[in-house]
Amino acid sequence: MTFLFNSDAARGAIFAEAFARDLPDLPFSMDPATVDPDGVRYLLTWTIPPDLHRYRNLEVVFSIGAGVDQFTMSALPGHVMVVRMVEDGIVRMMQEYATMGVLMLHRRMPDYLDQQRHRVWKGVPQPQAQDRRVGVLGLGLLGQAVLERLRPFGFQLAGWSRSPRAVEGVACLHGADGLDRLLATTDILVCLLPLTAETRGFLNAGLFARLPAGASLVHTGRGPQLDAPALVAALDSGHLSGAVIDVTEPEPLPREHSLWHHPRILLTPHIASVTQPAGAARAVVENIRRLRAGLDPVGLVDRGRGY
Ligand code: NDP
Ligand code: OXD
Repeated sequence: MTFLFNSDAARGAIFAEAFARDLPDLPFSMDPATVDPDGVRYLLTWTIPPDLHRYRNLEVVFSIGAGVDQFTMSALPGHVMVVRMVEDGIVRMMQEYATMGVLMLHRRMPDYLDQQRHRVWKGVPQPQAQDRRVGVLGLGLLGQAVLERLRPFGFQLAGWSRSPRAVEGVACLHGADGLDRLLATTDILVCLLPLTAETRGFLNAGLFARLPAGASLVHTGRGPQLDAPALVAALDSGHLSGAVIDVTEPEPLPREHSLWHHPRILLTPHIASVTQPAGAARAVVENIRRLRAGLDPVGLVDRGRGY
């Protein structure tokens, strides 16, 4: 039984050390060229390697990231478990980034950056946090963690998911009716949905139109969820007032893309969260222990649902 690590060497060295210390009976390899393919039971990777068929005894694919949309599920035999990365660093960084995005929009940074470009020294009206409504799309691990960080600021908080959820201090909504209510009562919308067939193109003109005038967006889900021309049109018309965008389609964003140039968009290159290798190694070691004990791993993906 071998664990095959298919990611960069720097992270691999940290994993190798953790495996040697905590799972000394499990051979660890970073080299597909020399590994016995029949021995590979566990594979950690970002994308499915083209030679996956070599690993005939594969049981589990671990994603090095929190998302699994980069995997073509149909390329994986039906019995193979898919496990997303659940580690503290990803959660902490997303809490920081989403809080930063919400605060930048709340404190009207798109206006002030524009004023700075034009050397204008002028205050603009500032609503108080208790009068701002923040709505989070996705009440999973990251959506809930972000809401927890936002709570002390005193915003009015709401969240939306597919199935009913309960989160302290958050108006939890679900389903189509719930989405209507959330959008109608949200000033700052945060997208933390996984990319699935249902969420592709979700942030589109129709959705923006259902937000109150002057609303804004923090997008940290996945690029293909956003209709970028629709966002630009909503900002140009003044219906939306600003956006903090971390994920785009494609990535990297081509130099000529309109998202680079819009004065009301703050753009970052998919850095909201970055997997932290030591925490990731701990999480994978713990999941292998769980599997050996007959338990489901933390972060087990429902392959049919896609997240
Ligand atoms: P989870 O799987 O824990 O949560 C997903 C949430 O989205 C759940 O609440 C789920 O509802 C909800 N959801 C999914 N599909 C729908 C739908 N069709 N309608 C309504 N709600 C839906 O995921 P995480 O919170 O861990 O991560 C979310 C995403 O964040 C990742 O998939 C990834 O794409 C992105 N991400 C981005 C990063 C970045 O750096 N920009 C870094 C890490 C992650 P329910 O609760 O009912 O299942
Ligand atoms: C992830 C990401 O999925 O970086 O971890 O987006």
